[in-house]
Amino acid sequence: MNVVLLGPPGAGKGTQAERVAKSCGFPHISTGDMLRDAVAKGTELGKLAKGYMEKGELVPDEVIIGIVKERLLEPDAEKGFILDGFPRTLEQAIALENELSALGRKIDFAVNIEVSDEEVVRRISGRRICRSCGRPYHVEFNPPKADGICDVCGGELYRRADDEPEAVRRRLEVYHAQTAPLVDFYGQRGLLVGVDGARPVEEVSSEIENLLNCRKE
Ligand code: AP5
Repeated sequence: MNVVLLGPPGAGKGTQAERVAKSCGFPHISTGDMLRDAVAKGTELGKLAKGYMEKGELVPDEVIIGIVKERLLEPDAEKGFILDGFPRTLEQAIALENELSALGRKIDFAVNIEVSDEEVVRRISGRRICRSCGRPYHVEFNPPKADGICDVCGGELYRRADDEPEAVRRRLEVYHAQTAPLVDFYGQRGLLVGVDGARPVEEVSSEIENLLNCRKE
């Protein structure tokens, strides 16, 4: 099953992708996590991406498309994947369609997690991320068991640089201008499923797992 998760920044794509990937047995491929990892390691990609990310702008299409193409060829993605944060522009969506078609594959579902801009701001302002495994938490809605420490790997929790209010405003503008049109793109192909993301994490996961016909652990 090849799945794309759509939705504004802070909609819960990372939260849901991690849970659903576990119950469905597919890899969770997050372009945001890949870029943050490159920034943390100081690679050439990281140096290029850092400035765009901190301002809330998109990394250039040709850069991100190349990275995703390579990732999709890795063995764990052969039987399926959950893409989180890609595609984000029409050019990326077309490149993904062409790449999959060359491999004799296609997107099965584009799941759009629907959340208002007000909720996005509430969620992002309380978000904390694990520095080691990237798992997202929320100080109020999804707190860790021990303050500042990841439940899964014991890593330190931190606030993303692009979660500052000015960058969040820009990310929302970029989302509405460049990524929201993908809802129509996948709608026209009959692949779009809308999910109300303004509900508890578990309810949203259950709906997506049922849609994908995955067994919960
Ligand atoms: P990326 O990391 O993809 O950021 P994003 O799309 O802005 O999404 P977020 O990670 O902010 O949010 P999310 O939807 O995953 O929500 P989360 O689960 O964390 O990209 C970052 C940057 O990288 C981009 O701005 C760009 O510069 C670059 N980039 C990445 N991909 C790119 C691409 N394809 N092309 C070009 N550039 C690219 O949840 C948010 C918070 O809410 C958490 O605290 C969580 O605990 C909480 N929460 C989640 N669900 C619920 C719920 N149901 N109820 C209450 N709280 C909830």
